[in-house]
Amino acid sequence: MDRIRIRGGNELNGIIPISGAKNAALPLMIASLLTNETLNLRNVPRLADVQQLQRILRNHGVDTALSGKRAGEKAQSGENLSLTAGEIVDTVAPYELVSAMRASFWVLGPLLARCGEAKVSLPGGCAIGTRPVDLFLMAMEKLGASLDVDNGYVIAKAKNGLVGNRIVFPKVSVGATHCALMAATMAKGETTIENAAREPEVGDLADCLVKMGAKIGGIGTSTLMIEGVERLHGATHSVLADRIETGTYAMAGAMAGGEVILTDTKADFLDAFIDAMDLAGVDIETVENGLRVKRRDDLIKPVSIETRPYPGFPTDLQAQFMGMLTMTEGSSSIRETIFENRFMHVQELARLGADIKLRGDTAIVNGVRELRGAEVMATDLRASVSLVIAGLVAKGDTILHRVYHLDRGFEDLELKLSRCGADIERLSD
Ligand code: EPZ
Repeated sequence: MDRIRIRGGNELNGIIPISGAKNAALPLMIASLLTNETLNLRNVPRLADVQQLQRILRNHGVDTALSGKRAGEKAQSGENLSLTAGEIVDTVAPYELVSAMRASFWVLGPLLARCGEAKVSLPGGCAIGTRPVDLFLMAMEKLGASLDVDNGYVIAKAKNGLVGNRIVFPKVSVGATHCALMAATMAKGETTIENAAREPEVGDLADCLVKMGAKIGGIGTSTLMIEGVERLHGATHSVLADRIETGTYAMAGAMAGGEVILTDTKADFLDAFIDAMDLAGVDIETVENGLRVKRRDDLIKPVSIETRPYPGFPTDLQAQFMGMLTMTEGSSSIRETIFENRFMHVQELARLGADIKLRGDTAIVNGVRELRGAEVMATDLRASVSLVIAGLVAKGDTILHRVYHLDRGFEDLELKLSRCGADIERLSD
């Protein structure tokens, strides 16, 4: 299995291009199930999760084709993805596919909307928490589907089609909002989704659905109003920049020192993060086509944050922020309010010499003077990149195992960092 070796101590100086957002690309790909015409996606990140979702969608009968190349590339390596669900050949999403990628559960909404039936495996828990699906089920029932849970599968039926309704989520869920929104675009009559997730990736999906002919109001707010249409059509849409990748490299740059320019991205959607970085003593300023990141002083300053649904501090940047706060003069506190078990990185950061105490949903990070390289284990996507951030300043070699977690969500990580001066390489057996 691949590992990544990092020898800490080098500053980062240079340009890091930011890819399209994984968490926007996945629901956009699933939206292709809603039409028999082609959905062309641009700026698609090259990630294991994107490949896996193509496999899952092909199982339902979606034809997928990758094309295009990026500036400076010789061969076509694909950043345009065309998806055509001419005919849905199978409305079953089996366990072996859904368990490999949780977001594939979201096919429930579009399959019900287009075919009036779906049988989708329950995804099960994962490293960061139990992650139930009750909100999805409530939303589909509100839209008139009859549901049965049998043998680990949700069996949903709406033989006469879905019917618009008022859906009030008791808790903000990105996935349940995506799923309900897609389903409602083709439900008869009007649907309102209240307490909808306001994450920018939901807005990106809604914008694409509008291009496909959907009628959606309130995009970007917590109340989405959808007037169902009979059919959707093909469209071309560019995936928005990855705000989590942007934040991650901003923290890597701040941790290592030097000056990093992040291109093809914007400060939009990162307000809470940029405020926290300012308190940590890191300047993030807008430049042409991107952001410039520079630490103001020798050391990062301690900061306290808590994760919240958008527009709050994103849970997907929590682990990296903790990695960055390991070397400060003072104590920081990090409260995780979205997932109950998203602290797997704490033990691994401790292996690098970090001093972190866990009290319930809060981690107290007592800054240390130095970190030392060690063998560490990636436990989930964001946790693994927090170890990379710490490894950039740790004395000696850090070896990161289970790198496949990183490959799910960070395109060309070693390349992007080594081009800026990091001593980092992938070791393949
Ligand atoms: C999305 O997951 C993202 N995944 C996650 O990113 C992200 O951490 C999360 O949103 C929160 O921002 C993708 O977009 C592919 P939720 P999702 O439903 O939709 C509870 C990453 O690293 N809940 O918003 O699965 C749930 O348990 C990943 O890229 C219910 O209780 O998250 C959690 O506590 C990891 N019942 C909270 O809501 C439900 O039916 C928010 O989860 C659904 C969710």
